[in-house]
Amino acid sequence: MPEYVHGYSGREAERLSDQARTLAELIHHDTVFPGNSLVLEAGCGTGAQTVIVAPKNPRSQFISVDISESSLSQAKKQAAEAGIANVEFRAADIFHLDFPDAMFDHIMVCFVLEHLPDPNAALLLLKRVLKPGGSITLIEGDHGSAYFYPRSDEANAAINAQVVLQAAAGGNALIGRELYPLLTHAGFRDCRVSPRMVYADSSRPEMVEGFTKNTFTAMIEGVRENAIAAGIIQAAVFDQGIAGLYRSAEPDGVFCYTFFKGIGIN
Ligand SMILES: C[S@@+](CC[C@H](N)C(=O)[O-])C[C@H]1O[C@@H](n2cnc3c(N)ncnc32)[C@H](O)[C@@H]1O
Repeated sequence: MPEYVHGYSGREAERLSDQARTLAELIHHDTVFPGNSLVLEAGCGTGAQTVIVAPKNPRSQFISVDISESSLSQAKKQAAEAGIANVEFRAADIFHLDFPDAMFDHIMVCFVLEHLPDPNAALLLLKRVLKPGGSITLIEGDHGSAYFYPRSDEANAAINAQVVLQAAAGGNALIGRELYPLLTHAGFRDCRVSPRMVYADSSRPEMVEGFTKNTFTAMIEGVRENAIAAGIIQAAVFDQGIAGLYRSAEPDGVFCYTFFKGIGIN
């Protein structure tokens, strides 16, 4: 298994839940599958997306898989607490799925491809278990889309440190812009990508708290030790960068970031 750049800590689970709640409407208002679908959620993690998407699709059944047993047990707990009964959680590796061919009506993959060394291979393996005519939905961010006021070279350097670290672990924090080529290269048809922009200023305090601070800045902060230890950035620059990101969450600050949601048909 490739190293997961964000780790599996409690803080990371909380960050993923914050992210999912804050972005629920922006990303998932249209994550609605036809009734009676069987949906594979690949890389469900702690279930942060599952608990949003499964209740929106009460007439469909979900099989949500992840490679991490500890994340899966948190996912099961979250889903049980939310009273969700249409999801079966299973341990599975996207690169070694043992489902029969064409088992699923639809597949959803959220914030997973960015961590995989070979996302194209993953899409081809997922395609095998998708019915002809079924859809795959990919959701990813792209750290190159982060811009903010006031500008800060140190904040850009801290974000870039995360990009470099993720690349060193075999991932790609700039993958959002690649969803269309990834979908088409994997042979999906009728591919459509819709950019979903997060815009946060103090007139939208829930976005400032939930996204600028608790999602994006928390994620960059989380790589501090590894980025410094790897010699990618100096501690003082990194810390100034984090201060720069928090500065954009102040009353006169602005933060923008774009997620990409891509859908292709098998
Ligand atoms: C950033 S988390 C996203 C989790 C969830 N989709 C969400 O949005 O909250 C990425 C997840 O991908 C999982 N993952 C990474 N490689 C995988 C693989 N080969 N097969 C299955 N899951 C994998 C990790 O264990 C982790 O839970």
